[in-house]
Amino acid sequence: MSAGALAILLTARLALAPLSGDDADEAYTAFADRDLYRLMVGSPPADTGALRERFTRLAAGSPDPGERWLNWLARRRDDSTLVGWHQATVAGETGDIAWVTFAGHRRAGYAREGAAAVLAWLRGIGVREVIAQADLRNAGSNATAAALGFVPDPGTIDESLRGEPTVDRRWRILLDAVR
Ligand SMILES: CC(C)(COP(=O)(O)OP(=O)(O)OC[C@H]1O[C@@H](n2cnc3c(N)ncnc32)[C@H](O)[C@@H]1OP(=O)(O)O)[C@@H](O)C(=O)NCCC(=O)NCCS
Repeated sequence: MSAGALAILLTARLALAPLSGDDADEAYTAFADRDLYRLMVGSPPADTGALRERFTRLAAGSPDPGERWLNWLARRRDDSTLVGWHQATVAGETGDIAWVTFAGHRRAGYAREGAAAVLAWLRGIGVREVIAQADLRNAGSNATAAALGFVPDPGTIDESLRGEPTVDRRWRILLDAVR
C-alpha cells in the first residue's frame, strides 16, 4: 500500500476535508444528535471540548503503525453546510469503511456520493478490498452499501451494541471493480 497523504476529496456536490480538532465547534450539534448512534457504535460527546479531543485523537491516527485511520467531514460545495462524516481504517490492502449523513440531509444521495469518492481514493493508495458492516435494522446503511456495489456476505454476525445483542450484515467490495 502506498502512503498517500490524506487529501481533500471533491465530488459533484461535496468537498470531503480531512477532519481536525478545529472542526469540533462547527460539528458539535451534528455529533451531539443522540439518534445518530441508535444503530451504530459511539455516543454523543459531552461538550465541544470532548469532541475536540475525539477529533484530535482521530486525526493523530492509529497508534498501530500497520493501520491508518482516515476521517473526512463532508460539506456541500455550494454553501459549505456540514452534511456528513466518512471514516475508513486501512491495514495493508484491506479497508473498513463507515458513513454518516447528519439529520436533515438524508435521502439526498450524500452518503453514496461521499463514500464513492472515499472508495476511489482508497483504490488509489492500493487498497484492494473494503468491508462495511451494518446492523440489520439499519435500512439506510445496508441500502447505501448495496447502492455502492458492495456484496453481502452470506451469513450474519452476532454483535453487541451498548450491551444489547444485535445482528449485523457484513458487505464487501473489490476495488478492482470500482471505476
Ligand atoms: C445510513 C446513512 C449514512 C445513509 O445516508 P444518506 O445520505 O441518507 O444515504 P443516501 O441518500 O446516499 O442513500 C444511499 C442509498 O440508500 C438508500 N437509503 C438511504 N436511507 C434509506 C433508508 N432509511 N431506508 C431505505 N433506503 C435508504 C437510498 O435510497 C440510496 O439508494 P439508491 O442510490 O439505490 O437510491 C444515514 O441514514 C445515517 O447517517 N444514519 C445514521 C448513522 C448510521 O447509522 N451510519 C451507518 C453506520 S454503519
